[in-house]
Amino acid sequence: MHSFQYRNRSLHCEQVDLAALAEEHGSPLYVYSANTIRDHYRRLATALAPLDHHIAYAVKANSNLAVLQLLATEGADFDIVSGGELFRVLKAGGSPSGCTFAGVGKTRAEIEYAMSMGIYCFNVESEAELRFINQVAGEAGIIAPVAVRVNPNVDAKTHKYISTGKSDNKFGVDFERIPDLYARAAKELTNVELRGLQMHIGSQLTTVQPFIEAVQKVAPLAAQLKAEHGIQFLSVGGGIGIVYHDSLASGDGDWWDNQAGEETALTIESYAAAIIPVLQPLGLKILFEPGRMIVGNAGVLLSRVLYKKHGSAKTFTIVDAGMNDLIRPALYQGHHDIVPITEPDGQNETIDVVGPICESSDFFAQDRELPKLEEGDLIALLSAGAYGFTMASNYNSRPLPAEVLVDGANATLVRRRQSFDDLIAGESVAGAHAENTD
Ligand code: LLP
Repeated sequence: MHSFQYRNRSLHCEQVDLAALAEEHGSPLYVYSANTIRDHYRRLATALAPLDHHIAYAVKANSNLAVLQLLATEGADFDIVSGGELFRVLKAGGSPSGCTFAGVGKTRAEIEYAMSMGIYCFNVESEAELRFINQVAGEAGIIAPVAVRVNPNVDAKTHKYISTGKSDNKFGVDFERIPDLYARAAKELTNVELRGLQMHIGSQLTTVQPFIEAVQKVAPLAAQLKAEHGIQFLSVGGGIGIVYHDSLASGDGDWWDNQAGEETALTIESYAAAIIPVLQPLGLKILFEPGRMIVGNAGVLLSRVLYKKHGSAKTFTIVDAGMNDLIRPALYQGHHDIVPITEPDGQNETIDVVGPICESSDFFAQDRELPKLEEGDLIALLSAGAYGFTMASNYNSRPLPAEVLVDGANATLVRRRQSFDDLIAGESVAGAHAENTD
């Protein structure tokens, strides 16, 4: 988080004053640091250098074209989960031959689109999907590259909504069934090439242990599939957690050097050191699908205090961002640090920070001791670069916020704020005048 710092008492992203950005572009406003994204990507690549590896950035974390283009320039490949994400990657200059396509519910249209573009691999989540891809490939007269996602039944020890590697999750194929599935596919499904094996046990993992458990369990299986079917790669998914608490306090340090409690247990280096010895002997290409660790601490959401309300039980600070802009607190009880844009002078109060949405789950902090805020003040919700804008919605007919990418002293508006006309684009009213409504 070293790219967000107070300078002259005003919070900056790299060399750009965030207050000035909010004045120019309004709020709520997402701001991303290009150099933080580059730094995280390069650190991961360096830590994984001993392996023959590829980093397939998980597009779902932050899919702004400018972010994708930046990562494509760094040499990243891309992990996609929809036709829309593939479209974005291609628009941003990414190569289809570096794309892996995950997800439990790919449609025919998405499969055909991805096949026509020539993606690197379909990461298949069920036998039914494998057979369907084989059928679609047969109709197109091609051989489709596939990897099956193995569900290793390992507890990722993360929030239950983002845990994916247990048998009761909808993801992947049971570990025990994989050898038989590959054997039958090799025999019966003539329009797929068994190119790899994939896994992903969950997101925001804060200790290295579940990763170790998962790779130790899956590595022998990958070796077996290499011997029997000549697979080329093993993807170990994403999931590296980030520091969400006291992330600004790390000053010019790295976000993973932060000493704030258990979240520090997982570092890029400890992750790499733990898994490399297990993976290296396989002689396979190893794919990684990081999302959050690349972009999470590279972004903030700026918001302005609209009103203060002193109730009998609580003090509410009502801001102009809502759960439609950043849903993580409402959906996963996710914590985001909140700091004033103007460096505080030490006076604190215990408040709830809430948005304007008509839901009691529309909060960013509850009973949190924060620097005293006044109406009109700007705040920054930290660590909002991953699963922030990509999960934003138009709920309550609120236009989506704008996004700015900062690179050194330059700030570029990389997505303009939606207008009211954007809100109704594509809609029409039933009846005779429908054709006149766009
Ligand atoms: N690969 C696969 C197959 C995935 O499903 C995911 C994330 C990733 C890679 C990237 O995981 P990461 O490195 O970002 O942890 N919206 C939630 C997170 C959902 C993650 C979904 N899958 C949140 O805001 O915490």
